Amino acid sequence: MLYNREFFDKGLERRHTGCEKWDADFIHVDTLALWVADMDFACAEGIQKAMMERAMHPCFGYNSDEQAYVDAFCGFMHRRHQLEIHGDEMLRLPCVVTGLKTCVQAYTEEGDPVAIFSPCYGPFAMSVESNGRKLVSVPLLLDDEGAYHMNLSGMEEALKGGAKLILLCNPHNPASRCWEKDELEALAKLAKDYGVTLVSDEIHADFVYKPHKFTSMLQVEKENVVALFAASKTFNIAGLQQAQLVTANKALLEKAEQVLNRNGIACGNTMALVGTMAAYNEGEEWLDGLMEYLDENRQALSEYVKEYLPKAKLTPISATYLAWLDLRAYGKTCDELKELFDRHGIALTGGTFFGAEGEGFMRLNFGCKKALVLEGIKRIAKALEE
Ligand SMILES: Cc1ncc(COP(=O)(O)O)c(C=O)c1O
Repeated sequence: MLYNREFFDKGLERRHTGCEKWDADFIHVDTLALWVADMDFACAEGIQKAMMERAMHPCFGYNSDEQAYVDAFCGFMHRRHQLEIHGDEMLRLPCVVTGLKTCVQAYTEEGDPVAIFSPCYGPFAMSVESNGRKLVSVPLLLDDEGAYHMNLSGMEEALKGGAKLILLCNPHNPASRCWEKDELEALAKLAKDYGVTLVSDEIHADFVYKPHKFTSMLQVEKENVVALFAASKTFNIAGLQQAQLVTANKALLEKAEQVLNRNGIACGNTMALVGTMAAYNEGEEWLDGLMEYLDENRQALSEYVKEYLPKAKLTPISATYLAWLDLRAYGKTCDELKELFDRHGIALTGGTFFGAEGEGFMRLNFGCKKALVLEGIKRIAKALEE
């Protein structure tokens, strides 16, 4: 199979497969779904083949802690990011959000303040608040170009105020931002100076556009850092539910393991393990093709926004396939925008899902065939003319 433009240009019809993106209650027959973060592309052939082969063996009993799984994940991280991970530094998780919640429970007590940069992927705040911890939202700094920057002095204030844990999104969703090494170093230093643990959600690690380069928090600091990874976004297999928690700090690893045990979270779904291993071992050609395609979509999107939405501001995209559109100049709240867009057949994610700073913004997922990106922008423009 050739994973070229032609392959990705085919897109994928996903309605009636029970998928969240296209089959949710509020998606109508003619709605264009550019919201939840998975992509409308067929996954790499090797993933499907490996699962089909495994399905032919008619027993789905408990799975062992296979070394082959560890080798697949560690091999991929080394090849792709020059990141060395050892098998005894990792725990398997059903998903990354389980990892965020596990870390909140493992490294803080009820009532403790936990700091995040906002806007940020909604489940960060939910992981803090649903566990009875106090959310400290440190607003990212937004410049005139619409780009976000780390608010280190704001984070220092949060730490002075007693924050016990930092949850970082690296690269950042929804700010479409690859954090550079010096920014990560400055944040890691702060965390260390104040003696707090830093949890880095690195689920978007593989979606970084040149000349930027992904740096894992684990490549900056090992002692007080826990990182969360998954093949789910990278290879478009989020429904399989498989992720990893990694830390070189044995005490932090043990605490996380205890929480998983206490909550009865046992991980190792047969198909998830087989599919994820195949992705890490055989998916890189697909991933390279995908990144070229997404890069073209990213550039096209920027042109479309200039042409059709002159009052909008698109945050510069150095990472992720999620675009953050500042529509505040149109003077509408997210609820109003959602209602308006719904009538015009376009579904995006409302900015307030990412915190109060997201009011007036919408997030658009461009992990789909390019023609749909253009159609989406045209529908948004038409809606805003109303
Ligand atoms: C930053 C971030 N973390 C976690 C997730 C969800 O991951 P999972 O499905 O593994 O819980 C997403 C999904 O969009 C995300 O953007």
